[in-house]
Amino acid sequence: MSVPVAVNLSVAAGGAADGRLTLPCRRRPARTVLALRPRTAYVLGYPLCTVIVRRRTHSSIMPNRITNSFSITYGYPVVFTHDAFAPANPALAAAFSTAGGRGATPCLALLDDGLAAADPGLSARLVAYCQAHRSCVDLRAAPILIPGGERAKDGWEVPLLTLRQATAAGLCRHSIILAVGGGAMLDAVGLGAALFHRGAHLLRCPTTVLAQCDSGVGVKNGVNLDGIKNLAGTFAPPLAVLNDVETLRSLSDRDWVAGIAEAFKVAAIRDAGFLTWLTEHAETLRRRDLAAMETLVIRCATLHCEHIAAGGDAFEQGSARPLDFGHWAAHKLEGMSAFTLRHGEAVAIGIALDVLYAVRQGLVKPDPAAALIRALRRSGLPVWDAHLAQLASDGTPLVLTGLEEFRQHLGGQLHVTLPAPLGQGCEVTHIDGVAMAAAIADLAALQATLGQEAQP
Ligand SMILES: NC(=O)c1ccc[n+]([C@@H]2O[C@H](COP(=O)([O-])OP(=O)(O)OC[C@H]3O[C@@H](n4cnc5c(N)ncnc54)[C@H](O)[C@@H]3O)[C@@H](O)[C@H]2O)c1
Ligand SMILES: [Zn+2]
Repeated sequence: MSVPVAVNLSVAAGGAADGRLTLPCRRRPARTVLALRPRTAYVLGYPLCTVIVRRRTHSSIMPNRITNSFSITYGYPVVFTHDAFAPANPALAAAFSTAGGRGATPCLALLDDGLAAADPGLSARLVAYCQAHRSCVDLRAAPILIPGGERAKDGWEVPLLTLRQATAAGLCRHSIILAVGGGAMLDAVGLGAALFHRGAHLLRCPTTVLAQCDSGVGVKNGVNLDGIKNLAGTFAPPLAVLNDVETLRSLSDRDWVAGIAEAFKVAAIRDAGFLTWLTEHAETLRRRDLAAMETLVIRCATLHCEHIAAGGDAFEQGSARPLDFGHWAAHKLEGMSAFTLRHGEAVAIGIALDVLYAVRQGLVKPDPAAALIRALRRSGLPVWDAHLAQLASDGTPLVLTGLEEFRQHLGGQLHVTLPAPLGQGCEVTHIDGVAMAAAIADLAALQATLGQEAQP
């Protein structure tokens, strides 16, 4: 699958406050029309001299604005494969070749340390792969381990490490930074790659469900600063993405399940058929059926790529985030939990909350909303967190402050995507705090009821 994304940039240069730039008129252009008007200067009421004031009456002749307008078309392959590091598998070599240089492209590889611990032979397999394909890739150093999980996004450490290691390996901006791991390390290494000489090629091999179906196939990177999620980051499309479903086998149960939340998220606002499929396969997915997970990953990644390529706002220049259903609360809860909640877990809770708010707004019927929340639970995801019950000093739920933080992150006006009905999305620019607080109470009550139901 190739994802072309067209971006138009328009830059206006020069100009005074009123938008006009007045240039000195020493040499009169052939077609300039000047009006010569006598003016008399007075000092203490006495006429001093009479001067000729040259006034330009035909301003359109002189250029007073430069509009720098150009388009860049992005496209990158998102490839689904098995055993990506088996030397006989050409997919990774083909991805290296997309850098387009002559001969072997210099490359630095960075590995998620959680992945490396779960699959100790991976680093050696990667080195052997590059050796077998040395005609297209020049691996400059042994793979470097990067802290896996949200630790990778804790400040500037990983982006700086990426910059320094890339420099030490003698890379240039046409070289490849290969990042293999979960969404967090991909975000942090991706930021380093985007900053390296203003942007080196990033080749992503996502190794979690969430990264394969969502974060790893997109155009964003970032790190957290001062407890604020993704405070520093850029939009930087990758060179290529290689999703090897086999790497998912070594995930912990918790991380296996967490990524399923993003599939429910996109299905609930974009694809009713996919939502039905997820609801029917919730237990199968939780029981680690790899074939079912591969189906989920491909469908979910496709929906994300379609949104980036055809949604009209790949670099999120507007305020709307049509795929961020459930995310205002998710981001807040991640911070409130000091990032002990996984992103996917927080998204599942955010979905459950926003769907109950949508019920209160008459956008979704109560029964399908409850069925969605049950399906999230059947797939192993949480739908409640104690931080939802935490109150601010004014007695309102503290999580509601996440709405203003989300607005700041979006820029401009608040935009929240809600299902209307399930399977279709709508954008709202106002959230009724009283109704949202009531939705939190609804979720607490539903959670209490569901808690008494036996998990299948
Ligand atoms: N850039 C985007 O557009 C975007 C979108 C959604 C989410 N995100 C970000 O993604 C991050 C969450 O990523 P995630 O859910 O992939 O989790 P993660 O990156 O936090 O990884 C979870 C754990 O799994 C380990 N791990 C990774 N691959 C493994 C494997 N194959 N086997 C065993 N262990 C493995 C990691 O070491 C880590 O301990 C969050 O920071 C979130 O903000 C980014
Ligand atoms: Zn997300």
